[in-house]
Amino acid sequence: MTGTVASGAPTLAALTDDVGLLYGADWNPEQWHPDVWREDVALMRAAGVNVVTVGVFAWATIEPRPGRFELDWLDRVVDLAHDSGILVDLATPTASPPPWLGVLWPSSRAVTADGVRMSHGSRNHFCPSSPHYRERALAVARVLAERYGEHPGVRMWHVGNEYGQVCWCEHCAEGFRTWLRARHGSLDELNRAWGTAFWSQRYDEWREVIPPRAAPYLVNPTQVLDHRRFASDQLLALYLEQRDVIREHAPGVPVTTNLMGFHHPTDYRRWAPHLDVVADDVYGDPADPHDVVRVALTHDLARGLAGGAPWVVMEQAAGAVNWRPHNVPKTSAQLRLDSLRAIARGADGSCFFQWRASTAGAERYHSALVPHAGPDTALHRAVVEHGAELARLREVVGTRVPARVALVFDWPSWWAAEEPASPSQRLRVLPQVLAYYRPLWEAGVGVDVVGPDADLDAYDLVVAPQLHLVEDVHVAGLRRVVERGGVLLLGPFSAVVDRDAHVRTGRFPVPFADLVGASGEEWVPLADPVDLRSDLLGDVRVHDWAERLRVEGGEAVATVVGGDLDGCAAVVRHRHAGGGQGWYVGALLPPDALAGVVRACLDAADVTGPAGVRAAADVEVVRRGHVTFCLNAADRPRTVHLTGADGVWHDLLTGADVAGDVPLAPHGVLALIERTP
Ligand code: GAL
Repeated sequence: MTGTVASGAPTLAALTDDVGLLYGADWNPEQWHPDVWREDVALMRAAGVNVVTVGVFAWATIEPRPGRFELDWLDRVVDLAHDSGILVDLATPTASPPPWLGVLWPSSRAVTADGVRMSHGSRNHFCPSSPHYRERALAVARVLAERYGEHPGVRMWHVGNEYGQVCWCEHCAEGFRTWLRARHGSLDELNRAWGTAFWSQRYDEWREVIPPRAAPYLVNPTQVLDHRRFASDQLLALYLEQRDVIREHAPGVPVTTNLMGFHHPTDYRRWAPHLDVVADDVYGDPADPHDVVRVALTHDLARGLAGGAPWVVMEQAAGAVNWRPHNVPKTSAQLRLDSLRAIARGADGSCFFQWRASTAGAERYHSALVPHAGPDTALHRAVVEHGAELARLREVVGTRVPARVALVFDWPSWWAAEEPASPSQRLRVLPQVLAYYRPLWEAGVGVDVVGPDADLDAYDLVVAPQLHLVEDVHVAGLRRVVERGGVLLLGPFSAVVDRDAHVRTGRFPVPFADLVGASGEEWVPLADPVDLRSDLLGDVRVHDWAERLRVEGGEAVATVVGGDLDGCAAVVRHRHAGGGQGWYVGALLPPDALAGVVRACLDAADVTGPAGVRAAADVEVVRRGHVTFCLNAADRPRTVHLTGADGVWHDLLTGADVAGDVPLAPHGVLALIERTP
C-alpha cells in the first residue's frame, strides 16, 4: 500500500527497542551558554527525556560564512547528550538559510505569486528550485553527515523542518515545465489536460507555460492543480537529495522530516514511502473543546501514512503557543491528555517544541518544557511526572491500532474541490472529513485515514466524505468494497472530476451511481434551508447544499419535502445481493443527522467500539494492541463502566486494579489491560 515504509529500511524500532516510548523535544543549545547545556541535560534525565532534536535552526551557527564550518560546539552537544544516555535526532538546518546566502544569491529567495521576493529576517525564505540554495543546503547536510554519520549518539536524522514553501520565480517556472514534460509528454497533451481551448489559453511553445502567477481573473484550474502537485514534488526532491547524502554516511539510521498533518501544500501520500519514520507536528487548540476530534483525526492520518506502523509526534506544545491571536495555555492535565492521545493512536513517541523557552526571537512567548521561570514550575513538574508515566507504558511500543474502518482522504482531491470557482465555498473538504469522522470517534471505532490507492480489502466500512477527484485507476478499488460485501459511504460532491479535474459527464456520481442506487443531475447550493423527511433520521433541516438526485435501484433514506427539490433523495442506500451496501449523501447534513447515517453504516458493517468499556460520547475510547485507552476530552468528571471477562482491569498509568464504574477526572486518562482471571 502506498504510505508503507519500504521493507528493509530502518524504522523507529531502532530507537524504541533501546529506550521505549520516545519522550523529548527540540533542543536549541546554540541559543544558550554551555553552562546551561549541562543543566539542561541534568533536567532532561530527571524528566525521563530520552531524545532531543538538535540543530534544526542552527545553520548560521554551523556555517557562519560560506564554506566556513564551526562544529566544535555541536560536537560537545552531541557528546553531552550521548554521554547522558539521551538519543540525538540530528537535524539538517536547511529550513532557515543564513542571511549571507540570500545576499550573495538573491535568486535563492522565494518569490510570491505577486512577484514579491522574500527577504531574510524570519525563516523559510528559500526558493526550493534555486540551484544555489540546493547546493548550499546539500553541502551543509553533507558536512553533518560526514561528521556525525557514525556517531553512536546520533540515532535519527531530521531533514529540514515542516516543508511547505511554494515559490513562483523563474527557477520554479523552469522546474514546473520540466515536471510537466515528464507528466504530460507533449504540449498537445498538456493543452488537452489543461483544457486550453477555453479562454484562448492554448500553448504553442514550452516557454509560454508558467506557474499560476497573479492574473486578472480566475486562473486555469488544472494549471493550478498541476502546480500544486509540482510544488509538493519539488519539496520532496529537496528532502530526498539530503536523505540520500545522509544514507551514504549513516546507513541503518532512520531519516525523517516533520510533517504537519493535513498540510495543504504537501501531498504526504507521496512523501510517506520515503520516510523511515512518520513524524508529525500537532498543535491542538486547548481553548477549543472540539479540537480534540480534529487532533485524533490527524493522528489517524499519521498512522495511515505510516501504513499502520508506529509513528511519532515530533512537535507539540507543552503549554501555550505564540501564534494564535489569544494563546490559551494547556493545563497540566491537557499536556498529559494530548500526549497520551497520540500514544493511544499508535505513536511510539511524544516530543515537544521546545526544551527550554527562548528569551529572544520571535518564539520567546511560546511554551517549552523548561519555562522562563525555570524547573520550579507547575508545567515542568507535569513534564517530569509525564516522563515517569510514559516509562510505564513500555508494553505498547510497537503495537498497532486495529481498524475496520477506512476514511479516504486525498490531497489532489482536496486541492481540486476547493478551487475558487466552484458551486459553493460553503462545502469545504476538511470540515466535511471532520464531520464524518466525529461519529466514528464517538463510537470508539478504529479508523485508518488512507488514500484512494490504498488496499481497501481489509476494511468493512469505507467512508469517503468528499472524494471530489477520483482517478480512473482508483475507481475499481472503491467499487470492490461493495462488490465484496463491504459498506461504502460517499459524501456530497464526490467523484465529480477526473485526474485532470475535468468534469465526468453523465449522471453523478458517474463511476458509482449504480453502486449507490441513485444518480444526480444538479448540485444545488441553497438560498434557503430545505427540510428532509426520514424514518431513520427523523426531521432534518439542511442548509447550504443539496443535490437533484433520483433513486435508481436503491432506497431513499431521506427525501426533500417541499420547494423545487420536493421528492428528491438526499440520502440513499443500495443494498446489494452479496451483502454489500453503497450509500450516498447528497446534502450537507447537520451533525445529528450525519451521525445517524454513519451509525447506520457502522451497524451495516457490524463494526463496534472496544469491548468491555462504556462511557459518555466525550470520552475517547481507543484500543491499541491489548491496551484500551479511555481519554476524557471533557473538562468535567466522567465515569467509565467496565465489564469484561471478570470485570477487573489494570490501569498501567497508576498501577491500580479497577472495576465496575471508574471515575475519570476532567481530562483524565486510563490505560487499561484486562486482568486475566
Ligand atoms: C512548528 C515549527 C517549530 C516552532 C513551532 C511553534 O510549526 O516547526 O519550529 O515554530 O511550530 O509552535
